[in-house]
Amino acid sequence: MNENNYPCLRSCNILLWILLIAPFMLLRYSESAICYVNNCVSTKCSSMTCDTCNDGYFLLRGICRKCSFGCSTCTNFSKCTACADKFYLQSGKCHRCFYRCATCTNSKTCTACADKFYLQSGKCHHCFNRCATCTNLKTCTACADKFYLQSGDCHLCSSVCATCTRFKTCTACGDPYWNLLGQCSSLCSTNCTDSRCDDTTGLCYDCKPGKYGQHCEHDCNLCTEGQCGLRQCISGCKDAYYQGYTVSGNSYCLKCAQDNCITCSNGTYCSQCKQGYYRKRTSTDVTSCIQCYSFCLTCQLTELCPADCVQHCSDPDNQRNTKSTHKILGKSCCFTVK
Ligand SMILES: *[C@@H]1O[C@H](CO)[C@@H](O)[C@H](O)[C@H]1NC(C)=O
Ligand SMILES: *[C@@H]1O[C@H](CO)[C@@H](O)[C@H](O)[C@H]1NC(C)=O
Ligand SMILES: *[C@@H]1O[C@H](CO)[C@@H](O)[C@H](O)[C@H]1NC(C)=O
Repeated sequence: MNENNYPCLRSCNILLWILLIAPFMLLRYSESAICYVNNCVSTKCSSMTCDTCNDGYFLLRGICRKCSFGCSTCTNFSKCTACADKFYLQSGKCHRCFYRCATCTNSKTCTACADKFYLQSGKCHHCFNRCATCTNLKTCTACADKFYLQSGDCHLCSSVCATCTRFKTCTACGDPYWNLLGQCSSLCSTNCTDSRCDDTTGLCYDCKPGKYGQHCEHDCNLCTEGQCGLRQCISGCKDAYYQGYTVSGNSYCLKCAQDNCITCSNGTYCSQCKQGYYRKRTSTDVTSCIQCYSFCLTCQLTELCPADCVQHCSDPDNQRNTKSTHKILGKSCCFTVK
Protein backbone atom coordinates (compact mmCIF):
# COMPACT_ATOMS: atom_id res chain seq x y z
CA MET A 1 0.00 0.00 0.00
CA ASN A 2 1.41 3.45 -0.88
CA GLU A 3 0.89 6.83 0.76
CA ASN A 4 -1.56 7.95 -1.91
CA ASN A 5 -3.92 5.08 -1.35
CA TYR A 6 -4.39 5.71 2.32
CA PRO A 7 -6.75 8.77 2.35
CA CYS A 8 -8.93 7.05 -0.20
CA LEU A 9 -9.24 3.93 1.90
CA ARG A 10 -10.17 6.00 4.94
CA SER A 11 -12.94 7.91 3.19
CA CYS A 12 -14.22 4.63 1.77
CA ASN A 13 -14.44 3.27 5.31
CA ILE A 14 -16.45 6.28 6.47
CA LEU A 15 -18.80 5.85 3.53
CA LEU A 16 -19.16 2.18 4.38
CA TRP A 17 -19.94 3.10 7.97
CA ILE A 18 -22.63 5.60 6.97
CA LEU A 19 -24.22 3.25 4.45
CA LEU A 20 -24.10 -0.06 6.31
CA ILE A 21 -23.30 0.24 9.97
CA ALA A 22 -25.12 3.43 10.98
CA PRO A 23 -28.60 2.32 9.75
CA PHE A 24 -28.03 -1.02 11.46
CA MET A 25 -27.16 0.72 14.72
CA LEU A 26 -30.18 3.00 14.45
CA LEU A 27 -32.38 -0.02 13.86
CA ARG A 28 -30.85 -1.75 16.85
CA TYR A 29 -31.36 1.37 18.90
CA SER A 30 -35.04 1.77 17.99
CA GLU A 31 -35.69 -1.93 18.53
CA SER A 32 -33.99 -1.99 21.88
CA ALA A 33 -35.71 1.26 22.86
CA ILE A 34 -39.04 -0.53 22.60
CA CYS A 35 -37.83 -3.17 25.01
CA TYR A 36 -37.68 -0.53 27.72
CA VAL A 37 -41.47 -0.18 27.59
CA ASN A 38 -42.41 -2.79 30.18
CA ASN A 39 -45.34 -5.12 29.46
CA CYS A 40 -45.50 -4.17 25.77
CA VAL A 41 -46.58 -6.95 23.36
CA SER A 42 -44.81 -5.59 20.28
CA THR A 43 -41.33 -6.82 19.64
CA LYS A 44 -40.88 -4.51 16.67
CA CYS A 45 -42.15 -0.95 16.61
CA SER A 46 -42.06 1.70 13.94
CA SER A 47 -42.23 4.49 16.50
CA MET A 48 -40.31 4.72 19.77
CA THR A 49 -43.44 3.99 21.81
CA CYS A 50 -45.49 0.88 22.45
CA ASP A 51 -48.70 0.28 20.49
CA THR A 52 -50.16 -2.80 22.26
CA CYS A 53 -49.79 -3.85 25.89
CA ASN A 54 -49.89 -7.30 27.47
CA ASP A 55 -53.14 -8.55 28.99
CA GLY A 56 -53.79 -6.88 32.31
CA TYR A 57 -52.26 -3.57 31.06
CA PHE A 58 -53.55 -0.59 29.10
CA LEU A 59 -51.76 1.97 26.96
CA LEU A 60 -51.44 5.51 28.23
CA ARG A 61 -49.13 7.94 26.37
CA GLY A 62 -47.01 5.10 25.00
CA ILE A 63 -46.56 3.40 28.35
CA CYS A 64 -48.26 0.22 29.61
CA ARG A 65 -50.06 0.69 32.89
CA LYS A 66 -51.63 -1.94 35.08
CA CYS A 67 -55.41 -2.47 34.98
CA SER A 68 -57.31 -2.30 38.25
CA PHE A 69 -57.16 -5.18 40.74
CA GLY A 70 -58.54 -8.53 39.49
CA CYS A 71 -58.92 -7.22 35.93
CA SER A 72 -57.48 -9.26 33.02
CA THR A 73 -58.20 -6.82 30.14
CA CYS A 74 -59.15 -3.13 30.26
CA THR A 75 -59.32 -0.02 28.12
CA ASN A 76 -58.25 2.26 31.00
CA PHE A 77 -58.05 2.15 34.77
CA SER A 78 -61.77 2.77 35.31
CA LYS A 79 -62.98 0.54 32.42
CA CYS A 80 -62.28 -3.17 32.87
CA THR A 81 -63.61 -5.47 30.10
CA ALA A 82 -62.80 -8.92 31.56
CA CYS A 83 -61.89 -10.20 35.00
CA ALA A 84 -59.45 -12.83 36.20
CA ASP A 85 -60.78 -16.12 37.59
CA LYS A 86 -62.41 -15.76 40.99
CA PHE A 87 -63.57 -12.19 40.09
CA TYR A 88 -66.75 -10.88 38.47
CA LEU A 89 -67.29 -7.68 36.47
CA GLN A 90 -69.57 -4.92 37.70
CA SER A 91 -69.56 -1.31 36.42
CA GLY A 92 -66.11 -1.63 34.87
CA LYS A 93 -64.53 -3.02 38.06
CA CYS A 94 -63.72 -6.55 39.20
CA HIS A 95 -65.00 -7.87 42.49
CA ARG A 96 -64.00 -11.02 44.29
CA CYS A 97 -66.31 -14.06 44.05
CA PHE A 98 -67.41 -15.94 47.13
CA TYR A 99 -64.41 -18.13 48.20
CA ARG A 100 -66.18 -21.38 47.25
CA CYS A 101 -66.50 -20.31 43.57
CA ALA A 102 -63.83 -20.76 40.91
CA THR A 103 -65.79 -18.42 38.59
CA CYS A 104 -68.99 -16.43 39.17
CA THR A 105 -71.27 -13.90 37.51
CA ASN A 106 -72.06 -11.90 40.66
CA SER A 107 -71.53 -12.07 44.41
CA LYS A 108 -74.23 -14.73 44.77
CA THR A 109 -73.98 -16.91 41.64
CA CYS A 110 -71.10 -19.30 41.03
CA THR A 111 -70.57 -20.78 37.53
CA ALA A 112 -67.80 -23.16 38.63
CA CYS A 113 -66.55 -24.20 42.04
CA ALA A 114 -63.20 -24.31 43.77
CA ASP A 115 -61.70 -27.75 44.50
CA LYS A 116 -63.55 -29.70 47.20
CA PHE A 117 -66.89 -28.05 46.22
CA TYR A 118 -69.57 -28.97 43.68
CA LEU A 119 -72.03 -26.75 41.84
CA GLN A 120 -75.77 -26.93 42.37
CA SER A 121 -78.15 -24.15 41.27
CA GLY A 122 -75.43 -21.52 41.22
CA LYS A 123 -74.17 -22.45 44.70
CA CYS A 124 -71.06 -24.40 45.70
CA HIS A 125 -71.44 -27.13 48.30
CA HIS A 126 -68.81 -29.11 50.18
CA CYS A 127 -67.75 -32.48 48.70
CA PHE A 128 -67.47 -35.48 50.94
CA ASN A 129 -64.11 -34.92 52.65
CA ARG A 130 -62.38 -37.90 50.99
CA CYS A 131 -62.84 -36.23 47.58
CA ALA A 132 -60.44 -33.70 46.09
CA THR A 133 -63.10 -32.84 43.47
CA CYS A 134 -66.68 -34.09 42.99
CA THR A 135 -69.75 -33.57 40.84
CA ASN A 136 -72.21 -34.04 43.70
CA LEU A 137 -72.14 -35.08 47.33
CA LYS A 138 -71.89 -38.77 46.45
CA THR A 139 -69.68 -38.74 43.32
CA CYS A 140 -65.97 -37.98 43.61
CA THR A 141 -63.94 -37.26 40.44
CA ALA A 142 -60.57 -37.15 42.25
CA CYS A 143 -59.56 -38.15 45.74
CA ALA A 144 -57.70 -36.53 48.59
CA ASP A 145 -54.20 -37.86 49.35
CA LYS A 146 -54.13 -41.35 50.85
CA PHE A 147 -57.34 -42.27 48.97
CA TYR A 148 -57.89 -43.81 45.54
CA LEU A 149 -60.83 -43.48 43.18
CA GLN A 150 -63.07 -46.41 42.31
CA SER A 151 -66.52 -45.99 40.72
CA GLY A 152 -66.89 -42.41 41.98
CA ASP A 153 -65.96 -43.41 45.51
CA CYS A 154 -62.71 -42.77 47.39
CA HIS A 155 -61.12 -45.65 49.29
CA LEU A 156 -58.24 -45.58 51.75
CA CYS A 157 -54.77 -46.59 50.48
CA SER A 158 -52.56 -49.01 52.37
CA SER A 159 -50.79 -47.27 55.26
CA VAL A 160 -47.41 -47.51 53.46
CA CYS A 161 -48.58 -45.25 50.60
CA ALA A 162 -48.75 -41.45 50.48
CA THR A 163 -50.78 -41.71 47.27
CA CYS A 164 -52.03 -44.79 45.42
CA THR A 165 -54.09 -45.98 42.45
CA ARG A 166 -55.21 -49.20 44.22
CA PHE A 167 -55.05 -50.28 47.85
CA LYS A 168 -51.47 -51.55 47.62
CA THR A 169 -50.38 -49.82 44.39
CA CYS A 170 -48.57 -46.80 45.79
CA THR A 171 -47.59 -43.94 43.48
CA ALA A 172 -45.59 -42.36 46.34
CA CYS A 173 -44.54 -43.85 49.63
CA GLY A 174 -45.64 -42.38 52.95
CA ASP A 175 -43.30 -41.67 55.85
CA PRO A 176 -41.23 -43.58 56.93
CA TYR A 177 -41.34 -45.83 53.85
CA TRP A 178 -39.29 -45.70 50.65
CA ASN A 179 -39.45 -47.30 47.25
CA LEU A 180 -37.48 -50.54 47.19
CA LEU A 181 -37.79 -52.45 43.92
CA GLY A 182 -41.24 -50.95 43.32
CA GLN A 183 -42.57 -51.59 46.83
CA CYS A 184 -42.90 -49.18 49.74
CA SER A 185 -40.69 -50.63 52.42
CA SER A 186 -38.97 -49.61 55.63
CA LEU A 187 -36.22 -52.20 55.21
CA CYS A 188 -32.67 -51.38 54.17
CA SER A 189 -31.75 -52.77 50.75
CA THR A 190 -29.98 -56.10 51.00
CA ASN A 191 -27.34 -54.48 48.77
CA CYS A 192 -26.36 -51.82 51.34
CA THR A 193 -23.08 -52.70 53.00
CA ASP A 194 -23.96 -54.60 56.21
CA SER A 195 -27.64 -53.85 55.34
CA ARG A 196 -27.25 -50.44 57.00
CA CYS A 197 -29.14 -47.36 55.80
CA ASP A 198 -30.61 -44.05 56.96
CA ASP A 199 -33.82 -44.92 58.80
CA THR A 200 -35.86 -42.00 57.46
CA THR A 201 -34.83 -42.12 53.79
CA GLY A 202 -33.52 -45.66 53.38
CA LEU A 203 -30.36 -44.34 51.65
CA CYS A 204 -27.52 -46.83 51.92
CA TYR A 205 -24.39 -45.43 53.57
CA ASP A 206 -22.31 -47.67 51.33
CA CYS A 207 -22.95 -50.36 48.72
CA LYS A 208 -21.79 -53.92 48.34
CA PRO A 209 -19.14 -54.25 45.60
CA GLY A 210 -20.57 -53.94 42.09
CA LYS A 211 -23.62 -51.91 43.18
CA TYR A 212 -24.48 -48.21 43.26
CA GLY A 213 -27.52 -45.99 43.76
CA GLN A 214 -29.62 -44.68 46.64
CA HIS A 215 -30.62 -48.19 47.62
CA CYS A 216 -27.69 -49.82 45.82
CA GLU A 217 -30.18 -51.10 43.30
CA HIS A 218 -28.07 -50.50 40.16
CA ASP A 219 -25.31 -52.62 38.66
CA CYS A 220 -21.87 -51.07 38.17
CA ASN A 221 -21.15 -53.47 35.33
CA LEU A 222 -23.50 -51.38 33.13
CA CYS A 223 -21.19 -48.37 33.65
CA THR A 224 -18.28 -47.59 31.32
CA GLU A 225 -15.52 -50.01 32.31
CA GLY A 226 -17.71 -51.11 35.21
CA GLN A 227 -16.69 -48.04 37.19
CA CYS A 228 -19.16 -46.47 39.60
CA GLY A 229 -19.23 -44.21 42.61
CA LEU A 230 -21.70 -44.53 45.46
CA ARG A 231 -24.62 -42.96 43.57
CA GLN A 232 -23.67 -42.96 39.87
CA CYS A 233 -21.42 -44.28 37.11
CA ILE A 234 -18.10 -42.45 36.99
CA SER A 235 -18.07 -41.78 33.24
CA GLY A 236 -21.48 -42.72 31.96
CA CYS A 237 -22.90 -45.99 30.74
CA LYS A 238 -21.16 -48.67 28.69
CA ASP A 239 -21.86 -49.23 24.98
CA ALA A 240 -25.47 -50.02 24.10
CA TYR A 241 -26.69 -48.33 27.31
CA TYR A 242 -27.78 -44.76 27.99
CA GLN A 243 -28.27 -42.73 31.13
CA GLY A 244 -31.81 -42.66 32.44
CA TYR A 245 -32.93 -40.63 35.43
CA THR A 246 -35.13 -41.54 38.37
CA VAL A 247 -37.83 -39.19 39.69
CA SER A 248 -35.35 -37.97 42.29
CA GLY A 249 -32.84 -37.13 39.54
CA ASN A 250 -30.41 -39.99 40.11
CA SER A 251 -28.96 -41.58 37.01
CA TYR A 252 -28.78 -45.22 36.09
CA CYS A 253 -28.13 -47.18 32.89
CA LEU A 254 -30.84 -48.36 30.53
CA LYS A 255 -30.38 -50.50 27.44
CA CYS A 256 -30.76 -48.77 24.06
CA ALA A 257 -34.06 -49.93 22.61
CA GLN A 258 -32.60 -50.60 19.16
CA ASP A 259 -30.84 -53.89 18.59
CA ASN A 260 -27.22 -53.51 17.43
CA CYS A 261 -26.98 -49.90 18.60
CA ILE A 262 -23.86 -48.85 20.51
CA THR A 263 -24.67 -45.21 21.29
CA CYS A 264 -28.11 -43.85 21.96
CA SER A 265 -29.28 -40.73 23.74
CA ASN A 266 -32.59 -42.22 24.77
CA GLY A 267 -34.76 -45.26 24.12
CA THR A 268 -35.74 -44.35 20.57
CA TYR A 269 -32.81 -42.59 18.96
CA CYS A 270 -29.66 -44.50 18.02
CA SER A 271 -26.75 -42.24 17.13
CA GLN A 272 -24.21 -44.99 16.35
CA CYS A 273 -24.68 -48.59 15.22
CA LYS A 274 -22.22 -51.38 15.73
CA GLN A 275 -19.95 -52.48 12.90
CA GLY A 276 -21.79 -54.15 10.03
CA TYR A 277 -24.94 -52.04 10.57
CA TYR A 278 -26.07 -48.63 9.36
CA ARG A 279 -28.47 -46.10 10.84
CA LYS A 280 -31.88 -45.67 9.32
CA ARG A 281 -34.80 -43.56 10.46
CA THR A 282 -37.62 -46.10 10.64
CA SER A 283 -40.31 -43.69 11.79
CA THR A 284 -40.46 -40.01 12.73
CA ASP A 285 -38.59 -40.39 15.98
CA VAL A 286 -37.17 -43.89 15.81
CA THR A 287 -33.70 -44.47 14.39
CA SER A 288 -32.77 -48.14 14.04
CA CYS A 289 -29.73 -50.17 13.02
CA ILE A 290 -30.11 -52.18 9.79
CA GLN A 291 -27.66 -54.86 8.77
CA CYS A 292 -25.26 -54.20 5.89
CA TYR A 293 -24.93 -56.87 3.21
CA SER A 294 -22.95 -59.70 4.69
CA PHE A 295 -20.00 -59.05 2.35
CA CYS A 296 -19.51 -55.50 3.71
CA LEU A 297 -17.53 -54.82 6.82
CA THR A 298 -19.24 -51.43 7.18
CA CYS A 299 -21.81 -49.49 5.22
CA GLN A 300 -23.51 -46.11 5.46
CA LEU A 301 -26.92 -44.88 4.34
CA THR A 302 -27.77 -48.14 2.52
CA GLU A 303 -27.03 -51.85 2.87
CA LEU A 304 -24.32 -51.45 0.21
CA CYS A 305 -20.63 -51.22 0.98
CA PRO A 306 -19.06 -47.77 0.54
CA ALA A 307 -17.63 -46.95 -2.88
CA ASP A 308 -14.09 -47.66 -1.69
CA CYS A 309 -15.31 -51.05 -0.64
CA VAL A 310 -12.07 -52.89 -1.22
CA GLN A 311 -11.06 -51.88 2.30
CA HIS A 312 -14.46 -52.74 3.64
CA CYS A 313 -14.90 -56.36 2.65
CA SER A 314 -15.63 -58.76 5.45
CA ASP A 315 -13.58 -61.45 3.72
CA PRO A 316 -10.29 -60.17 2.25
CA ASP A 317 -10.37 -62.96 -0.35
CA ASN A 318 -13.42 -61.34 -1.89
CA GLN A 319 -11.33 -58.38 -2.91
CA ARG A 320 -10.15 -60.36 -5.89
CA ASN A 321 -13.67 -60.36 -7.20
CA THR A 322 -14.25 -56.66 -6.87
CA LYS A 323 -14.35 -56.04 -10.60
CA SER A 324 -16.80 -58.76 -11.56
CA THR A 325 -19.07 -57.81 -8.67
CA HIS A 326 -19.04 -54.27 -9.82
CA LYS A 327 -20.78 -55.48 -12.96
CA ILE A 328 -23.22 -57.75 -11.16
CA LEU A 329 -24.45 -55.43 -8.46
CA GLY A 330 -23.93 -52.19 -10.29
CA LYS A 331 -23.11 -50.28 -7.14
CA SER A 332 -21.50 -52.71 -4.80
CA CYS A 333 -18.49 -54.94 -4.69
CA CYS A 334 -16.86 -57.55 -2.51
CA PHE A 335 -18.90 -60.39 -3.84
CA THR A 336 -17.90 -64.01 -4.23
CA VAL A 337 -18.53 -65.04 -7.80
CA LYS A 338 -19.30 -68.73 -8.08
C1 LIG B 1 -62.18 4.91 29.99
O1 LIG B 1 -62.66 4.27 28.78
C2 LIG B 1 -64.05 4.42 28.60
C3 LIG B 1 -64.43 3.58 27.38
O2 LIG B 1 -63.53 3.73 26.34
C4 LIG B 1 -64.42 5.89 28.49
O3 LIG B 1 -65.82 6.03 28.32
C5 LIG B 1 -63.96 6.65 29.74
O4 LIG B 1 -64.18 8.02 29.61
C6 LIG B 1 -62.50 6.39 30.00
N1 LIG B 1 -62.12 6.96 31.29
C7 LIG B 1 -61.00 7.65 31.49
C8 LIG B 1 -60.77 8.14 32.87
O5 LIG B 1 -60.23 7.86 30.59
C1 LIG C 1 -29.38 -56.59 45.13
O1 LIG C 1 -28.56 -57.15 44.12
C2 LIG C 1 -29.08 -58.33 43.54
C3 LIG C 1 -28.00 -58.93 42.64
O2 LIG C 1 -27.53 -57.97 41.73
C4 LIG C 1 -30.38 -58.01 42.81
O3 LIG C 1 -30.93 -59.14 42.21
C5 LIG C 1 -31.36 -57.42 43.81
O4 LIG C 1 -32.52 -57.00 43.11
C6 LIG C 1 -30.74 -56.22 44.53
N1 LIG C 1 -31.63 -55.79 45.58
C7 LIG C 1 -32.04 -54.53 45.70
C8 LIG C 1 -32.95 -54.24 46.84
O5 LIG C 1 -31.71 -53.64 44.93
C1 LIG D 1 -34.23 -38.80 21.74
O1 LIG D 1 -33.05 -38.13 21.39
C2 LIG D 1 -33.12 -37.45 20.15
C3 LIG D 1 -31.73 -36.92 19.81
O2 LIG D 1 -31.09 -36.36 20.90
C4 LIG D 1 -34.19 -36.35 20.25
O3 LIG D 1 -34.30 -35.66 19.02
C5 LIG D 1 -35.54 -36.98 20.61
O4 LIG D 1 -36.50 -35.98 20.79
C6 LIG D 1 -35.40 -37.82 21.87
N1 LIG D 1 -36.64 -38.53 22.08
C7 LIG D 1 -37.21 -38.60 23.28
C8 LIG D 1 -38.46 -39.42 23.36
O5 LIG D 1 -36.74 -38.06 24.28
